Amino acid sequence: MPPAVRRLLASTLLGSIALALVFAGGALAEAGFAPVESRSPNANAINDAYNWVAIFTGAIFLLVQGSLLLFIVRYRRRKRARSEDGAQVHGNTNLELAWTVAPVLILVAIGSFVFWKLPEIQNVPSANASGGRVDVEVKGYRYYWNFEYPNGVISVDRLRAPVDQNVRLAITAPDFEVIHSWWVPALGGKFDAIPGVVNESWFRATAAGVYRGQCAEFCGIQHAAMTASVEALPREEFESWLEDEARAQEAGTSDLGRETYLGACAKCHGLAGEGDIGPTLAGNGLLEDPEAVEEVVRNGRNAMPPVGRDWEERQMSALTAFLEGGGLDGQ
Ligand code: CUA
Repeated sequence: MPPAVRRLLASTLLGSIALALVFAGGALAEAGFAPVESRSPNANAINDAYNWVAIFTGAIFLLVQGSLLLFIVRYRRRKRARSEDGAQVHGNTNLELAWTVAPVLILVAIGSFVFWKLPEIQNVPSANASGGRVDVEVKGYRYYWNFEYPNGVISVDRLRAPVDQNVRLAITAPDFEVIHSWWVPALGGKFDAIPGVVNESWFRATAAGVYRGQCAEFCGIQHAAMTASVEALPREEFESWLEDEARAQEAGTSDLGRETYLGACAKCHGLAGEGDIGPTLAGNGLLEDPEAVEEVVRNGRNAMPPVGRDWEERQMSALTAFLEGGGLDGQ
């Protein structure tokens, strides 16, 4: 084959491989392998760091795989005898300098960029910053999230938050719990919920909507069902919800009982109490007895963890009222 034809073939081959990789990259992004689109400044900074690192890893991937293919084609055995050695090459100062210096420069570039972005990711905006701040306590339990607002409102698995306002999260777990991990990718990084330790994180949702999250630390049999969501609402809407909810929870007319059942009970006992990992609850006379329910929920039983050992009274009575009122039949 004349060299010109060979070069043409080789460059066509490399070109199609590069093109295929670009399409594969697009398909992977579609399939959810690329980072979730960010909706908070700290998540933006995390994605910037991801993209910066991806430029280097992508280039290295193309370089290594490209030369591999090139070498396979170009230096194949052809008609040479199997026993014949190839050319013996010893030392190449320039090449050795290049593969030592280039990685150092790449690591410096990656390291400096990440350290430059780090404050944006990590530093929780001050409570006095303009626009104020909402502080929420986030607690991980097997297998749900309990949120508590400064005015005492409790919610389960769905955190409501105002748009365009800083929200500080104090992420922890009760001392009888295991380690969970709070992660809503569109709104920032992953933070462990460790018994007895408070980890701080924050977000400022830039658009209204529901952002999905998932417990990111293997915590037991229903770890996969331990999802979370953040519902970002326009500020006035959020504030009126918070006030109305506070009144409803004090009066015992809120949806907290149902929310607690769905979060803390249904993941093991089934939506309508039909039983799954945990025993069937539907039709169990115990549900009509608030004290018996409280005893099991506070202390656990057999394989069941004490899912509500440290609940406040309002959450416990919301659950027992929901069960007593035949709440399961409506599921
Ligand atoms: Cu909680 Cu995994």
